[in-house]
Amino acid sequence: MTKWSPNSWRSKPISQVPAYPDQAALQETEARLATFPPLVFAGEARKLKKQLAQVAAGEAFLLQGGDCAESFAEHGADNIRDFFRVFLQMSVVLTFAGQQPVVKVGRIAGQFAKPRSSDNETRDGMTLPSYRGDIINGIEFDEASRIPDPARQTMAYRQSAATLNLLRAFAQGGYASLENVHSWMLGFVSDSPQGERYAALANRITETMNFMRAIGITSESNYALRETDFYTSHEALLLGYEEALTRVDSTSGDWYATSGHMIWIGDRTRQADHAHIEYCRGIKNPLGLKCGPSLTPDGLLELIDLLNPENEPGRLTLIARFGADKAGDHLPKLARAVKKEGRSVVWSCDPMHGNTITAAGYKTRPFDRILREVQTFFEVHRAEGTHPGGIHVEMTGKNVTECTGGARAVRDEDLQNRYHTHCDPRLNADQAIELSFLISDLLKKQSGAHEKKVVNG
Ligand code: PEP
Ligand code: CO
Repeated sequence: MTKWSPNSWRSKPISQVPAYPDQAALQETEARLATFPPLVFAGEARKLKKQLAQVAAGEAFLLQGGDCAESFAEHGADNIRDFFRVFLQMSVVLTFAGQQPVVKVGRIAGQFAKPRSSDNETRDGMTLPSYRGDIINGIEFDEASRIPDPARQTMAYRQSAATLNLLRAFAQGGYASLENVHSWMLGFVSDSPQGERYAALANRITETMNFMRAIGITSESNYALRETDFYTSHEALLLGYEEALTRVDSTSGDWYATSGHMIWIGDRTRQADHAHIEYCRGIKNPLGLKCGPSLTPDGLLELIDLLNPENEPGRLTLIARFGADKAGDHLPKLARAVKKEGRSVVWSCDPMHGNTITAAGYKTRPFDRILREVQTFFEVHRAEGTHPGGIHVEMTGKNVTECTGGARAVRDEDLQNRYHTHCDPRLNADQAIELSFLISDLLKKQSGAHEKKVVNG
């Protein structure tokens, strides 16, 4: 294999690259970004990798989620807080049910670049370059907005830094304390079926906390009760940006992507001999790999060889995204091949990207299809003797109407009411919490089955 360097991807074929008209300006931006401080530290990425190794071993569960695409327009404290509190609620639900640690990874503080199925978009007879995410061009449908502008990379970097700063404060500054388990509830969720179920669970946690306080275990004396580990992730799509933020860790001498703790490779850019795999193989962060219907067992093993040649647990998370109707056909073959070859991976389920349909003129995802793919994911892993390690969702803390269905049913005709996403439809807070309760039932079933097996020898 050829020698890796942060820019060795540049000599490989690449897809999904924006056509920057001003190459000199692009180079100038990348050179400046390369002088900016890292957003995350290698030690944090290593810590996440250790936690993911626990997931791979079936001893923890991965919760990964956030916007499909972050936007400059929606950058504000309320959005970040509302996302974070729903994420905490989901994670409490999953921890309680699974009786296992939940590894929390946001699609946030860097999730700006989007792969597109078509280079162009046509509306009313006018054709323009597709929107590729705020880090590249503007969503407005006019010629000027759609021109890729390198200055947007600097804006995305600065927004990521500010977002991460607030997230670190929330995670470590008291907001995430389990003593706040009731106050994470959002107003519009509190009067829904999910709200009631969550309140009941929160009561049990508060009772437990009161008991622990009585015996001297308090949030002041025990950091695990008052703080949480929260990590960031995004798709490593815009490689010039990633390269600029790739740094040597002085402790280990290894290269790390410092744009986020974990980065993943999208389903459209995972060709073994192409640029995105080349870049990712050389950095030491935990990696995600989206696995869609076109991936064969041999193709997957080849990618695992490239991305995790030393079979390091926690290094690689395989994110299955087949669609509810296809998961049952595709996932067993891949899970079997990986198990047979003895490769350590985290298996996670993205029930969003294979379940997108159009209704009432909007891209949407029916909640029952999302749930069906998750159920299939758990069933397949139970049958194959592998671990259903996590979930990867597009979600927001806002009360949007982007995915249909759920207990408080969003109908096709409701989609127009609050459809705000810059790319794919997200679960709203209610739907996200409902999904966690449904997963929590699957986790309970699984630990029940596991206990039976242990008892029966
Ligand atoms: C995404 O996660 O937003 C995405 C584009 O996914 P995929 O690569 O799986 O299509
Ligand atoms: Co998406």
